Amino acid sequence: MDEKRNNLKPARLDGRRDDLAPGLSRRSFFRAAGAAGVGSAASLLGSASAQAQSTDWLQPGNNNHVIGLQNAGTFPDGEVKIDFYGHCAIKITSPGGASVLFDPWRDDPSGAWGLWFKQKFPETLVDITMSTHTHFDHDAIDRPQSTMVLDRMAGTFEFADLRITGYADKHACVAPGWYPWTDALAEFGVDACPPNNPGHMDMVTYVVETGGIRTLIWGDNRPDPADGFWEAVGRIDVLTLPVDGSEHILSYDQANALVARIQPKAVIPTHYLSEATTYTLSTLQPADAWVQEQKSFSMLEGASLTLAAADVQGMDKEFLYFGHNALTE
Ligand SMILES: [Fe+2]
Ligand SMILES: [Fe+2]
Repeated sequence: MDEKRNNLKPARLDGRRDDLAPGLSRRSFFRAAGAAGVGSAASLLGSASAQAQSTDWLQPGNNNHVIGLQNAGTFPDGEVKIDFYGHCAIKITSPGGASVLFDPWRDDPSGAWGLWFKQKFPETLVDITMSTHTHFDHDAIDRPQSTMVLDRMAGTFEFADLRITGYADKHACVAPGWYPWTDALAEFGVDACPPNNPGHMDMVTYVVETGGIRTLIWGDNRPDPADGFWEAVGRIDVLTLPVDGSEHILSYDQANALVARIQPKAVIPTHYLSEATTYTLSTLQPADAWVQEQKSFSMLEGASLTLAAADVQGMDKEFLYFGHNALTE
């Protein structure tokens, strides 16, 4: 290995691997060819430097839906829709129809962490795409067809009937399970843990408020966040937590302690092996065993869920588990 490679910045090991991949469907390729001339578009696509750039300018569609929401004076009461795209990728759609997708995934572009996912993240249509941190399994922000991208946003954002607050904290930095993935960072010469962690071990955790429901997107945050975190997040109705049988990010004990502290009405497991999206090579395992040890749980039969605030208020730490159900297009 190159001796200068003492950090985990992505390296392009095989320039051919991403040919036509980042956001370039066949349809959008021909749109690009039409816009830029076939010859110049083809030569752009053959260039490694061009491949590293955003391809969002090639997205089909436009911002008409966002403009409609922007101009709407009022929004209806109603249910909140939750769609699961596997791993930590969750789309929340407000009663007014505004949608936000968190943490679209991809494989590690350096190849160092191997093949995790069975397909490219779907080019799903959404108003807002957000990412909690820059790890490959959370940061394919160019893949959704999205009018807005808010990457690692701290502070508060309001749009239509959505209010989203980001709180900057740190990634879990000690692997609790059998696979000591955090040791790899020491092998690359960096401290995984704060205060001298590399930027890719920074995290933003989000609270989404819509339809009378407050959802906490935990991402890969550490189990013991900084002082101020708990006042910042406040009451949480729906808690997402990264738990799988290998205890890759959080152990069962750490996650159970968080559930006991937060007292959510509902819990949605994330970051586990879903047969629809994720390879065994990820070293992740399903979350079934953790879910089945809970007092109350539902094995969901699909990848989508609608929640009404009144129903959620009647729940008590109800585990809503998507299992192997995930949207792949
Ligand atoms: Fe991560
Ligand atoms: Fe992750």
